[in-house]
Amino acid sequence: MILADGKRFLLSGKSYGYAMAVTETGFLQHLHYGGKITERDLDYLFAIGATVAPHKDDFNADMAFDSMLGEYGFYARGDYKEPTAIFERRDGASMTRLRYRAYRTQKGAPAVAGMPHARSGGETLIITLKDDFSEIEVDLYYTASDDSDVLVRNAVVRNTGREAVMLKKAFSFRAELPNGSYRMMRLAGTWAQERIPEIAPIAHGVTRLHTLRGASSHNTNPFMGILTEGCTEERGECYGVQLVYSGAFALTAEWCKNGPLTLQGGINDVGFGWQLNGGETFVTPQTLLTYSYEGLGGMSRSIHDFLREKMIDPAYVYRQRPIVVNNWEATYFGFDNEKLFPIIDEAAKLGIDTFVLDDGWFGARRNDRAGLGDWFVNEDVLKGGLKTVIDRCKKNGMKFGLWFEPEMVNEDSDLFRAHPDWAICKEGVEPCRCRNQLVLDFTRKEVVDYVFGTVGKVLKENDISYVKWDMNRNITECFTAALPAERQGEFMHRYILGVYDLAERLTGAFPNVIFEGCAGGGGRFDAGMLYYFPQIWTSDDTDGYERAKIQWGTSVCYPLSAMSCHVSVCPNHQTQRTTPFQTRGNIASLGAFGYELDLSKMTDEEKALAKLQVEAYRRTAELVLKGDLYRLKNPLEGDYFCMSVVSKDKSEAYVVGERTHGNPCDYNQYLYLRGLDADGLYEIEELKITASGKALMNAGLLLPRLPDFGSWAWHLKQVR
Ligand code: DGJ
Repeated sequence: MILADGKRFLLSGKSYGYAMAVTETGFLQHLHYGGKITERDLDYLFAIGATVAPHKDDFNADMAFDSMLGEYGFYARGDYKEPTAIFERRDGASMTRLRYRAYRTQKGAPAVAGMPHARSGGETLIITLKDDFSEIEVDLYYTASDDSDVLVRNAVVRNTGREAVMLKKAFSFRAELPNGSYRMMRLAGTWAQERIPEIAPIAHGVTRLHTLRGASSHNTNPFMGILTEGCTEERGECYGVQLVYSGAFALTAEWCKNGPLTLQGGINDVGFGWQLNGGETFVTPQTLLTYSYEGLGGMSRSIHDFLREKMIDPAYVYRQRPIVVNNWEATYFGFDNEKLFPIIDEAAKLGIDTFVLDDGWFGARRNDRAGLGDWFVNEDVLKGGLKTVIDRCKKNGMKFGLWFEPEMVNEDSDLFRAHPDWAICKEGVEPCRCRNQLVLDFTRKEVVDYVFGTVGKVLKENDISYVKWDMNRNITECFTAALPAERQGEFMHRYILGVYDLAERLTGAFPNVIFEGCAGGGGRFDAGMLYYFPQIWTSDDTDGYERAKIQWGTSVCYPLSAMSCHVSVCPNHQTQRTTPFQTRGNIASLGAFGYELDLSKMTDEEKALAKLQVEAYRRTAELVLKGDLYRLKNPLEGDYFCMSVVSKDKSEAYVVGERTHGNPCDYNQYLYLRGLDADGLYEIEELKITASGKALMNAGLLLPRLPDFGSWAWHLKQVR
């Protein structure tokens, strides 16, 4: 709900309130972001806020801006916090002081052209600020819905003058939290260890999470959790700050002694520069701000609901996902029809419905040194072309999926030989050849058009129902010959706009194909990518223990249905660890399920287990897609992992756990379920017990005694 009268503004969601007011000197002051407040409270809040806002008398001293809680920071004019934006004029001046000009409201969520965005929403408030010293206006967007605790924000910068202005920084938002001591949760990692939560006190100064990689990255996810004192998984207040952006981003939290915590973020300003000509506007990516008074668990559930309801393609979000077998870890590049057919035949016997052919089917791609960019089937490898493999799938009643890496090119490829200038490089600078490949210059429309044409041709000519869109290296030598010297700062953002353009066009042209995102595992797992790809390959690490940690961390701000999770072979190719087949299956069942091994080489016992896993997954898939997630045992803090998903009507639940490390005295440990109907009676199929929701949540269940990496999967059904 939005209440606005041109002086005071109150946005309310399911359980939060967000208030702002225009000061007597015309500045937009932040008043409150936290639990709900009423319209009447605005006067009171304004009265307290007024004490720190600049008064008429000290208007020109302007030093009070540093302590005034602002909705959009100034630069070089008494606000010494990190600026939200920097607009450099032709004479080099860049001081800003923005004042309130007008507001308007509109129904629903606004589309952000060329970028992923919330597809729907309750109501949007747009507040226009005008810079005192330049011709720049800024529109601040706030979309709030009564049924959600996610507030969507972004900013649009407009040059109303004639002369070009250089945007040297253009963050999407500023949000202020009252003074207090906060801790920050970040999802950090590296390849094969993505999104591992870390919680630490926020120190004075600026804490910055960012990436310069051109992708949201394995290392730092574009998410920041802010925890108030005492906040836990289940209790207390916290905030989620999440960018709907897949490129080079930055999120900052700035704390000044006894002062508020200032949160900001958007496109990374390092190396950024955008020439905004007279009459042009610059649109920043959306940010999702989430408030929870039910701890981190409550925050995650609000974000999951939001992403499922408002970000992910409605045609796929709740549709049962294909159960796939992917040949990558089964064969790597060493496949031909003879190696693939037994995998397909076995998959059909197990009830798997889709075979996905990974890297190596095209051009001269027999290893990672050649072929990228040549999206033409290599008939020396696949005799009879893709059709023969697809026919084999069809004969088995299965569907077919195919791997692409659309943004890349090998120097040893026909594409590179024809268009060497299409690769990102700078004359005279030896290019960085990560994984022996170069990145295509997606800032150029003709390059994106070409890739759309070639990838589209394969999709048009073949019966393909699934695409895995990979991206195996980050950007270096950020430079494009297509832009003049003074516009090179636009490169990184234009690159990701090119990626979004291709994703938009391909998903639009092939609505019956489900696209899975991937970036060398989980190197581009973000809300922006989820707009185009309903699921993303979570990590190249499919080890039964490591994956539990990765999926735990990923679930902080992404729903289970977004995580593509496969059972792979042991010893695991990444960790060399051996975990039970059953455990690998149980952990993978908490996502979009599949296999990543040579099914034909499995033992009979494994085949029998896999068949049962596939059947069991079909029964729980609906819950995994739609349910409420409760994280019950944190594998990063103890010797167990456990998560449960509860149906929205609380009639069903699915509980998966693992005992990660044995400990001599860890018997008689209890697991307290959450989210059940307290007065309901539940049957747990596998344990053959019936107990009330109250008992299961308050008295708990005794954890099973299991060897290291032993696991369980329980199905609960409400019987009364
Ligand atoms: C990285 C992906 O994460 C793997 O699953 C596989 O597709 C390889 N790339 C192929 O090159």
